[in-house]
Amino acid sequence: MSGHGTPIKMTSRACGPLKGTAEVPGDKSISHRALILGALSVGETKITGLLEGEDVLDTAKAMRAFGAEVTQHGPGSWSVHGVGVGGFAEPEDVIDCGNSGTGVRLIMGAMATSPIVATFTGDGSLRKRPMGRVTDPIRLFGAQAFGRHGGRLPMTILGAPSPAPVRYATPMASAQVKSAVLLAGLNAPGQTVVIEKTPTRDHTERMLRGFGAEITTEVTEQGHVITLQGQPELKAQEVAVPRDPSSAAFPVCAALIVPGSEIVVPGVSQNPTRNGIFITLREMGADLTFENEREEGGEPVADLRVRYSKLHGIDVPAERASAQIDEYPVLSVVAAFAEGVTRMPGVHELRVKESDRIDAMARGLEANGIKIEEDEDTLIVYGCGPEGVPGGGTAVTHLDHRIAMSFMVLGMAAQQPVSVDDGSPIATSFPIFEDLMAGLGAEIVRADR
Ligand code: S3P
Repeated sequence: MSGHGTPIKMTSRACGPLKGTAEVPGDKSISHRALILGALSVGETKITGLLEGEDVLDTAKAMRAFGAEVTQHGPGSWSVHGVGVGGFAEPEDVIDCGNSGTGVRLIMGAMATSPIVATFTGDGSLRKRPMGRVTDPIRLFGAQAFGRHGGRLPMTILGAPSPAPVRYATPMASAQVKSAVLLAGLNAPGQTVVIEKTPTRDHTERMLRGFGAEITTEVTEQGHVITLQGQPELKAQEVAVPRDPSSAAFPVCAALIVPGSEIVVPGVSQNPTRNGIFITLREMGADLTFENEREEGGEPVADLRVRYSKLHGIDVPAERASAQIDEYPVLSVVAAFAEGVTRMPGVHELRVKESDRIDAMARGLEANGIKIEEDEDTLIVYGCGPEGVPGGGTAVTHLDHRIAMSFMVLGMAAQQPVSVDDGSPIATSFPIFEDLMAGLGAEIVRADR
């Protein structure tokens, strides 16, 4: 969906202890990949626990436009009848990926080595984001890309008629770029190699292996060297999507700062390329434990138990940035309730997310009376202590779901209520956020109610 409807002003105020079980939705990264790999497989892929947020629904629509049969059977339960590697049909209309950088970048990769043409667009946030990071490597396969100034959407991709495999070192730590190259490599004969200096989330590699591709990851001095054998026959699978650690971070962080809280968040992915936030929170003094550690759908998962905690600021290691890249907004909220200073270096990629997240958090925290410092690559938050966060401000969300949810968490323990100008983007990744938080005891109200 490009463009959102009427902005929804939301306000969150201090509440009593949060209690109960928070069943957060399925993982967004894995949900996109399940639909795309299902569409590139032969046979019927069955998916359970799919995230039914706008981002993923836009990817489902896109897969239909490329010729796959995508059907919803019940809540979270979907099937995809795939067209096989190289079987994508040419879409009849523009592909609108809404707010989703992951959706558009992975799909561009997946179609780049088929002899078809597709035009992509998205909402006001996605049209500002850089696509050159994907069009540069897909050109090496022989695809052509014509976008707006600065490699922005809308953009038309002419898939390579006779693709050549590629060896590509990703210039930035980005799982989207890595995944786009691997998905393009599926329809190129021979070996496609991606080299990552800093490892990023590995869901594409895990899932490709699960669908029957030959793919290896070697840890070398250059970094992770991922080698994919092209033109496999991907076989339809059953995919059980674990719950999203990035969504879990919101109730977890809320419980840490609202006095007296104790909640359980069951079945959350603990993939080591994603669980940085939980390690960081424990380093800050969080009473956060992992129960029933097990494997589900090829991913390690655990039930998280979290209790209100007295937190202290820390220096967050820059090397951990990619394992918690989407959690910095809510981490900076938690840092405001800690004693002392929290330094978050190595986070320049936050500048090109759904919004410039360093700027959006910095301005919103300042508007709520919290002292911050920022530079191109760093955010520093001066903690006010557990009862010292003033609040009382309105944050601008810039069509960014995680900015909206982060400030709603801030309001749950601040002295004064906290508002956001527009909470509608929350539906892109966490459509049940307000109900789930209300079920735990949070007080979030919409201006229109
Ligand atoms: C994602 C990768 C990350 C992350 C995004 C989801 C993915 O982006 O921020 O929310 O599913 O591959 P980058 O690859 O740009 O770091």
